[in-house]
Amino acid sequence: MRTDIAQTVRLEDYRPSDFLIDRVDLDVRLHPTATRITATLSLRPNPKGRADAPLTLDGDEVSLKAVALDGRALPESEFEASPQSLTITQPPRGPFTLTIETEIDPTSNTKLMGLYRSSGNYCTQCEAEGFRRITYFLDRPDVMAVYTTRIEAERDEAPVLLGNGNRVEAGSLEGTSRHYAVWHDPHPKPSYLFALVGGRLGRVAKSFTTMSGREVELAIYVEPGKENRADYALDALERSMRWDERAFGREYDLDVFNIVAVSDFNMGAMENKGLNIFNDKYVLASPETATDADYANIEAIIAHEYFHNWSGNRVTCRDWFQLCLKEGLTVFRDQEFSSDERSRPVHRIAEVKTLRARQFLEDSSPLAHPVRPIQYREINNFYTATVYEKGAEIVRMLKALIGPADFRRGMDLYYERCDGTAATVEDFLAAFADVTGRDLSHFARWYAQAGTPRVTVKGTFDAAARTYRLDFTQETPPTPGQPTKEPMAIPVALGLVARDGSAIEAVSDRVNAEGVFVLDKASDSLTFTGVSAHPVPSLFREFSAPVKTILDLSNEELLVLLRHDSDAFNRWQAAQTVAMRLLAARSTGKAIADSDVADLATALRAFMETDALGDPAFAALVLTLPSEADIAQDIGRDVEPDMIHRARKEMRRRIGQACIETLRHFRDSLSATGAYSPDAASAGRRALRNASLDLLAAADAALGETLAREQFETAGNMTDRLAALSTLMTLPGDAREAALARFEESYRDEPLVLDKWFTLQAMIPEDGTLERVKRLMEHPGFSMNNPNRVRSLIGSFAMLNQVQFNRQDGSGYDFLADIVLRVDELNPQLAARLLTSFSSWRMMETKRRTHAKSALSRIAGKPNLSRDVSDIAARSLAEQQGQ
Ligand code: BES
Ligand code: ZN
Repeated sequence: MRTDIAQTVRLEDYRPSDFLIDRVDLDVRLHPTATRITATLSLRPNPKGRADAPLTLDGDEVSLKAVALDGRALPESEFEASPQSLTITQPPRGPFTLTIETEIDPTSNTKLMGLYRSSGNYCTQCEAEGFRRITYFLDRPDVMAVYTTRIEAERDEAPVLLGNGNRVEAGSLEGTSRHYAVWHDPHPKPSYLFALVGGRLGRVAKSFTTMSGREVELAIYVEPGKENRADYALDALERSMRWDERAFGREYDLDVFNIVAVSDFNMGAMENKGLNIFNDKYVLASPETATDADYANIEAIIAHEYFHNWSGNRVTCRDWFQLCLKEGLTVFRDQEFSSDERSRPVHRIAEVKTLRARQFLEDSSPLAHPVRPIQYREINNFYTATVYEKGAEIVRMLKALIGPADFRRGMDLYYERCDGTAATVEDFLAAFADVTGRDLSHFARWYAQAGTPRVTVKGTFDAAARTYRLDFTQETPPTPGQPTKEPMAIPVALGLVARDGSAIEAVSDRVNAEGVFVLDKASDSLTFTGVSAHPVPSLFREFSAPVKTILDLSNEELLVLLRHDSDAFNRWQAAQTVAMRLLAARSTGKAIADSDVADLATALRAFMETDALGDPAFAALVLTLPSEADIAQDIGRDVEPDMIHRARKEMRRRIGQACIETLRHFRDSLSATGAYSPDAASAGRRALRNASLDLLAAADAALGETLAREQFETAGNMTDRLAALSTLMTLPGDAREAALARFEESYRDEPLVLDKWFTLQAMIPEDGTLERVKRLMEHPGFSMNNPNRVRSLIGSFAMLNQVQFNRQDGSGYDFLADIVLRVDELNPQLAARLLTSFSSWRMMETKRRTHAKSALSRIAGKPNLSRDVSDIAARSLAEQQGQ
């Protein structure tokens, strides 16, 4: 456990490293408990650094065995070593070589940072600051070196040895049971992209010819016996590579691209140069074990990590404040890929749902921070929805502002200028400013200012003048450290819709060729001329900016959009807005007219009867009401989770009853014929069929149970089986328990499937759930050491079960606090993530708020907390300025 006082790192304190490292030669002798690493570093003073500075290398729990300078063993008087650092007090003024021998214990490494073992295999995770747990190093992304890695191991224990770059040598150690491989990566890289793997692994491979005709061997390594479950990931990799060539002109740059799937991993996956390491959840898929959502995630994450080869690896970050430079941009790139491979509007809706559920939530919480933070105590806590999702939205807005052609030219210039360097957000924006000749300094506020802007829009129709005027105002609420805000540059993609659905050819000189109006002042307005009838405005089409909007449209007008808008995103949004208004009112004890619910139900039924089968995936989204967490966020204060739950359940019953014949028809007629295929169209039909089943069960529990049981028994794939089980979860009784038992019997030896079983049970919105979760922690398939198990059972309880986590008696909070403290001793990163489920505690009603605060205070007051957990606890508790 770290004992150091948490130091704050500030962007304004950035200075270049005093030393550079040009080459790193590593010799790693793998051993379960005593791995030896000899690192030979070619160092020189950085011309941009301070002269006469000592050399201080970072370390973390490493044990130093020997250190030599230019081949001369250093006496203890010439260096200072601790597990956290190694300082050479008087280093040479010119180039020199430092040889460092360290020993580490991969078996007892439960933090899963640095070198560790997973199912007996050796693997590494170095981002952000894990390399220092392998050897002492200048562990910062602006120190870029060429690495050569020799890995040696028992041949039996680790027949497969992988490193970054290309394999240049391999062989046996004469007269021993050991063997070795040497890997060389010619591309200079920061230490966080270093990786090695040693173990017993199965392999699938195929070869790929790049756009310039180079041959690349693509391979995925998995647990032996699971090779056929990697085929989809391999196919997704090939499609990603082709797409990056086509969409961005980016080609792969090594002879091999390896992916290794491991079962113990803190994150989803990691983009190490030429050797991506993945959480096996995002590689392994078969129709029997993975759902449509799993397939879509695999495709997106394979793409994401591959795309980092350019946006992250060839051009990396100068410092960790620039994290969005690689993560936001790469999320944007993977979103575009998925949109091209699947359905763009459906994918956009899914992106916005996640953005609102995670980023808007974070932005309204005590953990709110700018997309480019200016300070941190623990960088691991800044791999957030804000950096990732809002970071991607900024890139999307930039493209909307300058248009696709200039966007591509700017990207090309950015890659060309910054290739091989560690860059900043300023470098990124400069490329677009230079190709367009535009001043992007106002736009750059998106990186600096936290909080979700609120845009209020009012429309005025003047029948005599045939004009329609839109008045906009914007404001951004205060966030920690930022009490007052400047106006943002907000692209508003918009159009007008006639009430009968006909197109309106209105014009305004404030709207550009792409249909975008830029709101960059606190208030502004635009007027359309030639408008003959009172239109309904369709604003923020395709969700053109990450803002909250307050529109003065009636429910009736919104339902016109649901029916007639040419923008699919806004059709979906219109139904969501109407439902949200009703749900938020009901959840806060306000009366709503019965006819309002009936109107929504009628509109949804009409939509389903006429349009749903044209795009089933879209229809399934329209049928899905805002989640309980969405409603809580919309209400924003004095939230009563039980009222929200009841209101939502009741509305689902009403809508289900109004549409029961259509739902029945969908559920019966959309059945799959033939073999399972994970493609978007087939997945869309399953989505509509399963959404129909779930609504049917809300309308008629007995019918729902019969249908769900039947589907559970006969399903030919995991998507349909899990959907049926999920519907059964809403229906307390023996059928549900019997199905759960059957599922456990069938999949107890499939950890990734068992995770789904844990999650469904953790989400049951009933009083017994906390006890059930505690019982499940005793299940032989559960382990506190495995992040996937912990997240699927405990993480789901805390993040996805609004009513039971936020129990009024505080027992949900106390339970989570206990778990966080236990997990912190094993894996601080995982503990800190779990703890973020408290982030919205301030919006609860007073009883819950009091319980949450005391649970958080109990955590914060515990001695010897990790920096990860103490940072989240402290920020969650901090009094917010201006609120
Ligand atoms: N570079 C990250 C992985 C990472 C995150 C390493 C945090 C260390 C700390 C990787 O590229 C990534 O972003 N992974 C995401 C999945 C992605 C599709 C958004 C993840 O792991 O969740
Ligand atoms: Zn990433």
